[in-house]
Amino acid sequence: MVRGWWHDAVFYQVYPRSFADGDGDGVGDLPGLFARLPYLRDLGVDAIWLSPFYRSPMVDAGYDVADPRDVDPLFGTLADADRVFARAHELGLAVLVDVVPNHTSRDSAWFATALASPPGSVERSRYLFRDGRGTGGDEPPNNWLSQFGGPAWTRITEADGRPGQWYLHLYSPAQPDLNWRNLEVRCEYLSILRFWLDRGVDGFRIDVAHGLVKALGLPDVPPGVPQGWEGRLRHRLPYWDQPEVHDVYRTWRRLLDSYADVDTGGGRRGRIAVAEVWLPRAQRSAAYLRPGELHQAFDFPFLLAGWDPVRLRAAIDDALAATAAVGAAPAWVLANHDVVRPVTRFGGGALGLARARAALLLELALPGAAYLYQGDELGLPEVEDLPDELRRDPVFAHSGGRVPGRDGCRVPLPWAGEAAPFDFTSGETAWLPQPASWAELTVAAQRHDPDSTLALCRTALRIRRTHPALGARAAGRGLTWAEDELPPDILAFTRVPGFGCAVNMGKAPARVPVTGPLLLASGPVEHTGTGDLTLPPNTAVWWSALA
Ligand code: NOJ
Repeated sequence: MVRGWWHDAVFYQVYPRSFADGDGDGVGDLPGLFARLPYLRDLGVDAIWLSPFYRSPMVDAGYDVADPRDVDPLFGTLADADRVFARAHELGLAVLVDVVPNHTSRDSAWFATALASPPGSVERSRYLFRDGRGTGGDEPPNNWLSQFGGPAWTRITEADGRPGQWYLHLYSPAQPDLNWRNLEVRCEYLSILRFWLDRGVDGFRIDVAHGLVKALGLPDVPPGVPQGWEGRLRHRLPYWDQPEVHDVYRTWRRLLDSYADVDTGGGRRGRIAVAEVWLPRAQRSAAYLRPGELHQAFDFPFLLAGWDPVRLRAAIDDALAATAAVGAAPAWVLANHDVVRPVTRFGGGALGLARARAALLLELALPGAAYLYQGDELGLPEVEDLPDELRRDPVFAHSGGRVPGRDGCRVPLPWAGEAAPFDFTSGETAWLPQPASWAELTVAAQRHDPDSTLALCRTALRIRRTHPALGARAAGRGLTWAEDELPPDILAFTRVPGFGCAVNMGKAPARVPVTGPLLLASGPVEHTGTGDLTLPPNTAVWWSALA
C-alpha cells in the first residue's frame, strides 16, 4: 500500500458559521477562520475540513448549495477563501472542502430552469422529476421517505398553473436530488471539483456519498422494510449504496490523481476525498475505498458504538479488517455537526466529560486517520435547552418540533472572556446563544490549565506526532489486543514499537498490565514506574514501552 499524507493524519472539522466571526454579525465566517488558523496549527492537527461556505439560501445551513463556485456573502468572498487556503498551507495545514453532489438548492440556476421547462425536457432530466401516482397524479411517485421526515417527494405547479410533476428530495424540499444517471450532471461536478482543486484545496469531503445514484425505475421500498438505520442494516434500500455509484468515484479518483504532482503548498502532494457514507457495516463502506476509488470513508460504526466496549471493539476490528482488505486505512470519527456531542452522548456532566476525554485518547491511539469536530477539543457539551424559536435545523420544523435537531452541537465556540459571546464575535450575540457555564470552557480558560481537555488534546496530538508507533511515523498498521484475563469492559491494546493504550469502560477500577511509563492519562491515575496500574472507570491511559 502506498502511504499518503492522509493515512494517519488528524483532520479538524471547521463548521464555519460557528467557528469564529470576523465581521461582527454574529455568524462565523472565513475572515474569522483566517484569524484563528494559528490556533489549529498550535493544536497540532494536520488538516482542516470546512463545511460548506458556498452561496446558499441556508435552509440546511449551507448543505443546500445554490452556487457551488462562489462563497456566500454571509461567509465572505472567494478572495477570503483563497486567503484561508494559502494561510493554512503556510501553517502546514491541508484543507478539505465539502462537495454536495446528491442535491442542489431549490434556488440553484439548474432547478429554476427545470421548473420553467416542460416535463420530459433536458432541464428536468438533471433532477428526478416524475408524474405522481393515483387519480390526477395526486400521490407521490413512490414510497420513499425524506431523511428529515415526511415523503421524499414534493409536487410542483407547472408553468400553466396546473398541479404538475413531483421531484425527489432525500432531505428537505429545498434540496432537490440530482439525477446521477445524467452525464451532464457528472460533467458538472467534475468541473466543480476542478474549480476548487485549481484554487489549491487538498481534497473534498463528499456529502451523502452513498446516495447519488438511485435504483433504476425508482422502485418502492418493499412493504415492511424500515427506511431508517434498521433498514440499512439488513437491506439495500433503493436510494442508498447502489453499485453504480462507484463509477462516479472511479472518475473522481482519476481527476484527483491528475493533480497528484501539483504541490498545493508546504510540499504536500496528493489530493484526496473522504466519503460520508452512513452505512452500518465497515465492509460496505470499505467498498468505496477499493483501488481506484476514494481515499477515506468516515467510520460511523465507531461513532455509533457508544460507551460499549463490545461494540467498540467490534467496530474497530471490522474497520481495520475491512480497510486492510482493500489496501486503505480507517478514518475514525467520534463527532460532527450532525450528531449529539460526545460529552452528552456519553452521559453528560462530569461523567460524560470523563468518557469523552477517554474516547478521544482511544480514537487518537488507533491506526489510521482521525477526524475531530470543532469544540470537542474543549470538551463542549451539547446545548440542549436552546429556545425553540432560535432552532434553525430543518429537522426540528419537519418533525413538528418532536426532534430537537442538530443545533445543539452547532453552538458557536467560546474563545475567551467571562460572558457570551465569549469573543466568538465582536457583535453583541452569536447566532445561537452559548450557555453562561461555557466561561470555564473557553480556549483562554483552558489554554494554561494542564488538566484541561484542550491540554489533553494538544498533548495527545504531540505524542501522536512523535511516538514511532503512532501517526505518520507508525511502523505497523495494526494493533494487538491485550487478552490476559482482563475484564471485558477494559479495552487495551498495544502497537509496535512500544506503545500501549487502555480504556476502562466498566464501573469499577481495574488492574491493567502496563509495560512502561505512562505517557498520558485522560483523568487522575496513580502510577509510579512500570507494572500493573489500577485504572479508574471512565479513564484511558497511554504508555510507552520503548527500550
Ligand atoms: C449530511 C450533512 O452532514 C448534513 O448536515 C446535511 O443535512 C445532509 N448531509 C444533507 O446534505
